[in-house]
Amino acid sequence: MDGIRQTTRSTATRDGIAEALRALGVWPGDVLLVHSSLSSFGRVDGGPDAVIDALLDVLGPDGLLVMPTFTNCRVAPATTSPAEPYDPATTSCRDRTGIIPDTFRRRNGVKRSLHPTHSVAACGPRADEFVAGGERRTFDPAGPFGRFVRWNGKALFLGARLGANTTMHVAEDWMGLPFLTREKARVQTESGPAEVVVTGQPSGCRSYYGGGGVVADVFERAGIIRQVSLNETVLRLLSAREIIRVTCEHESASRALSSAAKRRTISAGTDWP
Ligand SMILES: CC(C)(COP(=O)(O)OP(=O)(O)OC[C@H]1O[C@@H](n2cnc3c(N)ncnc32)[C@H](O)[C@@H]1OP(=O)(O)O)[C@@H](O)C(=O)NCCC(=O)NCCS
Repeated sequence: MDGIRQTTRSTATRDGIAEALRALGVWPGDVLLVHSSLSSFGRVDGGPDAVIDALLDVLGPDGLLVMPTFTNCRVAPATTSPAEPYDPATTSCRDRTGIIPDTFRRRNGVKRSLHPTHSVAACGPRADEFVAGGERRTFDPAGPFGRFVRWNGKALFLGARLGANTTMHVAEDWMGLPFLTREKARVQTESGPAEVVVTGQPSGCRSYYGGGGVVADVFERAGIIRQVSLNETVLRLLSAREIIRVTCEHESASRALSSAAKRRTISAGTDWP
């Protein structure tokens, strides 16, 4: 692990967060996917907007800020009331990915993708292109998550646990691993709510979720995490391609995989679809 620095303030501010992000290795023009926990900071002067402004300050006019705006729009079991149909203009992500993405998605100029459970919001000159596609295949190489890897993005964890690392599921999709499942979801259409099938849902069990947090150990052992401390929280930064490479290496060592899956795994670590 490299890049460790300590910055201590009683209340985190926009400028203090920006300073910590620069120390961490976030650069102007980066493509940055942010997983966050506001409460982990202790107190932030200005709340979620101050965090978003700090991110935009550091990324500058050429950067692309991306946040997961995941929703609970699955088809509910018959015994419970139906989930809200997904509407990119209105459906909240607060329950699943927090107040920072939920504040970000409502800002002027922010674009949101159409996947009913795993949407992202993006802001920047290429935001329209970034959020396009992938409406029914969750980690579609031609959708936002595939683009995040191909555009050489960085995943930032603002106090969020590394288990919230959505990017590793992109590797699972590319490898054709058996962890991804089909689900039905609800979407809002012009003629009312409708049910759709989505593939590649990351609900299955995989080796690095076992033992309560193996995923963090896997990335830490591989030496691909940079981190800084700020107030009461820790900010961690990983390259998307490093996440894919290490996930592929880890999975190819898994005894549970067939040799065909291992071969696909190894090539997925180096060949970008
Ligand atoms: C689930 C998760 C979002 C919960 O984190 P959290 O800090 O409790 O929740 P939020 O980020 O929504 O922040 C809201 C909380 O911040 C606190 N808060 C409010 N104002 C604040 C301020 N100015 N400064 C600091 N904290 C503040 C409050 O406790 C608030 O919770 P409350 O409204 O219920 O009282 C987080 O643990 C997580 O997993 N983040 C990653 C999500 C993700 O990206 N997932 C993708 C893969 S599954």
